This record gives sequence, C-alpha cells and structure tokens, in this order.
Amino acid sequence: MASFFALMGALLLTVPAFAQSEVREQALIHMVRQDCGACHGMRLTGGLGPALTREALTNKPLESLAATIYNGRPGTPMPPWRAMLSTDDARWIAQQLLAGFPEETRTMP
Ligand code: HEC
Repeated sequence: MASFFALMGALLLTVPAFAQSEVREQALIHMVRQDCGACHGMRLTGGLGPALTREALTNKPLESLAATIYNGRPGTPMPPWRAMLSTDDARWIAQQLLAGFPEETRTMP
C-alpha cells in the first residue's frame, strides 16, 4: 500500500513537469520556424544564413551548433540568442536540427 502512494506521488510530480516542457518545446519550435526562418529560410533550407537541414548539418558536432546558437558568430549576421534561450534550449534546438527539425503542431491553446 505504501508503494502505491509512493507511485501516485511520483506520477503527480512527473505529469505537470512533462506538460511544462511540452509547452516549452512547442514555443521553441515556433520561434525557430519564425525567427530563425527569417534568415535560414522558412523550410530552413537556407537564405541569408546557411541551410539547417539534417543533410546540411551531417558531421557537425552538436556542441558547436549549440554554441553557435547561444553565442552567435561574431563578424557574421548570426546573432547570439542567449538573451532568449538557456544553454539547454540551444542544445535542444541543435539536437532537433541534427535529427531533422519538427514541424509546428497546432495543439497549443
Ligand atoms: C540575422 C540572420 C540570422 C538569424 C535571425 C539567425 N541566423 Fe543562424 N546564421 C546566420 C548566418 C549568416 C550564419 C552563418 C555564419 C557563418 O558565416 O559562419 C548562421 C549560422 C548558424 C548555424 C551554424 C550552421 C553551420 O553550418 O555551422 C546555426 C546552427 C544557426 N545559425 C542556427 C540558428 C538558429 C537556431 C537561429 C534562431 C534561434 C538562427 N540561427 C537565427 C544568420 C542568422
């Protein structure tokens, strides 16, 4: 019985945390499509900035992509995003780019 309550407690703690990160991930996907898309293309296939598709980024290290997003590239138009993103956010976006960036879903309220 004690383990039943421990399990329920764990579930109650886990579910809202998961829902929260889902919302954050949707917000990040929206931001990348809008703000990054302005330079990297609506399909992320390149514009002023280079393509950010899975194919284009093959062999680029995750850490260097995350650092580029967080710090920008001085001397190029690529701006730093540290005012808007945490290092974890930048890393998450870099991971998604390497895997093929997800489409926006319309499940937000
Ligand atoms: C004002 C235009 C601009 C915006 C907005 C912009 N970028 Fe960039 N980005 C660039 C340019 C230009 C480069 C190439 C820099 C260089 O010459 O090294 C670049 C490079 C990059 C790279 C490195 C690509 C590679 O092949 O090494 C990544 C990753 C990246 N941008 C991600 C993003 C993300 C994610 C966002 C949105 C949070 C974003 N960029 C917003 C212009 C932009």
